[in-house]
Amino acid sequence: MRLHLSLITLLLGWVSVTTAANILMLLNVPSRSHHIWNSALVTALAERGHNVTVLATLPVKKPGPNVTSLVLEGMYEFTEEEEFDIEEMSEMPPTEMLDFMFDWVNSICDFTFKNKGMKTLLNYPDNFKFDLIIYEPMCGECLLGLTKRFGSPPLIGVNGFSHTHWVDYPFGNPNNPSYIPDVMLPYSDHMTFLQRMDNFILNLRMDHLWNSKVLPNIDAISRKYLGPSSAVPSEELLKVSAVMVNTHPSFDSPRPLLPSVVNVAGIHVKEPKPLPKDLQEYMDNAKEGVIFFSLGTNIQSQKLKEEKRQAILSAFAELPEKVLWKWEADSLPGQPKNVKVGKWLPQSDILAHPNVRLFITHSGLLSTQESIHRGVPMLGIPFIADQKINIQKSMRHGVGLRLDYKNITKESLLKAIRTVIDDPSYAKNMRELSSKFRDRPETPLETAVFWCEYVMRHKGASHLRSAAKDLYLFQYLLLDVIAFVTAATLVPVSLLCYCCKKIFSKKSVQKKIKKN
Ligand SMILES: *[C@@H]1O[C@H](CO)[C@@H](O)[C@H](O)[C@H]1NC(C)=O
Ligand SMILES: *[C@@H]1O[C@H](CO)[C@@H](O)[C@H](O)[C@H]1NC(C)=O
Repeated sequence: MRLHLSLITLLLGWVSVTTAANILMLLNVPSRSHHIWNSALVTALAERGHNVTVLATLPVKKPGPNVTSLVLEGMYEFTEEEEFDIEEMSEMPPTEMLDFMFDWVNSICDFTFKNKGMKTLLNYPDNFKFDLIIYEPMCGECLLGLTKRFGSPPLIGVNGFSHTHWVDYPFGNPNNPSYIPDVMLPYSDHMTFLQRMDNFILNLRMDHLWNSKVLPNIDAISRKYLGPSSAVPSEELLKVSAVMVNTHPSFDSPRPLLPSVVNVAGIHVKEPKPLPKDLQEYMDNAKEGVIFFSLGTNIQSQKLKEEKRQAILSAFAELPEKVLWKWEADSLPGQPKNVKVGKWLPQSDILAHPNVRLFITHSGLLSTQESIHRGVPMLGIPFIADQKINIQKSMRHGVGLRLDYKNITKESLLKAIRTVIDDPSYAKNMRELSSKFRDRPETPLETAVFWCEYVMRHKGASHLRSAAKDLYLFQYLLLDVIAFVTAATLVPVSLLCYCCKKIFSKKSVQKKIKKN
């Protein structure tokens, strides 16, 4: 009887955990690498039996029966319309980059609402309800006006980017600029006075832009497309239940996190798959080692300046190692014998091959994490956003070197490559970092799925809300208490001083009178 009962409870527990939920994922950040990151979560949720509707910039690969894929078609053509000079962008100061980014986010929001994929979603039956909405902080806030339309379910943010300033906003997660450098700045957690000042001013600027520009804009865009009776995104934002950030304390500096801000760095890294046959043979036969060179999905290598390409080619030609280069054009003029190119190369599986000695990368976060997971030292050529801080962090861990694009010459590149490959400390430090990065009680993907289901089970998990958001800034910073304590100490002391002065001056007056 007892056994039966516990069996039944077990079964009930299992059923309540795995009840299929309707989940909506709003993924409008136009980044191919973010799409890969998010797709890992889509697949994992679908495998748990949930019905996942995905509105994304690219179709979900092999969606399967549990996934409905709605596409924001034309997003990349739209955002790539403007030709960026990568060299110019790599020199842009952080504040200018901020303004640029917020304008970019606005145009993406507008484009998302006008898109056919979004219209399909809005044409769902009026009474259609989702049990959870997942959005991407940075470009997804403006879509939160949709919550009311779909039964006001709990909200979760997923962020393939680092721990950016704005993900803390809904929770009041501590973000002290004295030791937490912003991802736009290449500082460590030990900052000099001037760096702390710089970091503090950037934080203020972000807060100001967020309140004066971003929040009013997302409300205006939402009202324009969803009507005045829809939910207000800036209010919905404060109801967000949890956010998954792509950081891990082994690589990123430790910092305080509220329970609803969850580290899931590396959810996109899978068990390595076998390589295509020709590539496998190429890698197996490279006894002298392979250098893998890829500048990611956003920086096309054929846009490199002629002079830089020549420098890179002549440096590669002198290496005893083989070089595998992700090169997007059909041919590579002047291709040396030891260089093999491919338009698309399975980066994560290549990095898992034991003959890889070095990864030359743009230092995007996802590439950096793949390299750490697989234990391959890096040479970073950073361009924009968080790429500079990523390679700075790698340098602090002794697992990589930085070479700026503008500094690339045949000599500087050769020197940097030889340093990372020939100095065994880089490989050794990387093995240690890799082991710390992977050492967790469960895979990051399991953590992410757990939190999605946890938030649904506990109807938004409002018990995890920090009281920080209910305080005024002066209360949060204890300015009122400090003012009171200061007054309570100063008033009696100054009274005492005042009285003493009076008494003594009286006495001296009396003395004077007596003398006279
Ligand atoms: C789809 O969901 C069912 C449960 O509803 C599950 O058994 C199946 O494995 C899921 N399929 C995929 C491809 O994830
Ligand atoms: C690039 O070159 C400048 C000037 O020679 C130098 O100051 C700087 O440290 C170099 N930076 C890197 C990362 O190579």
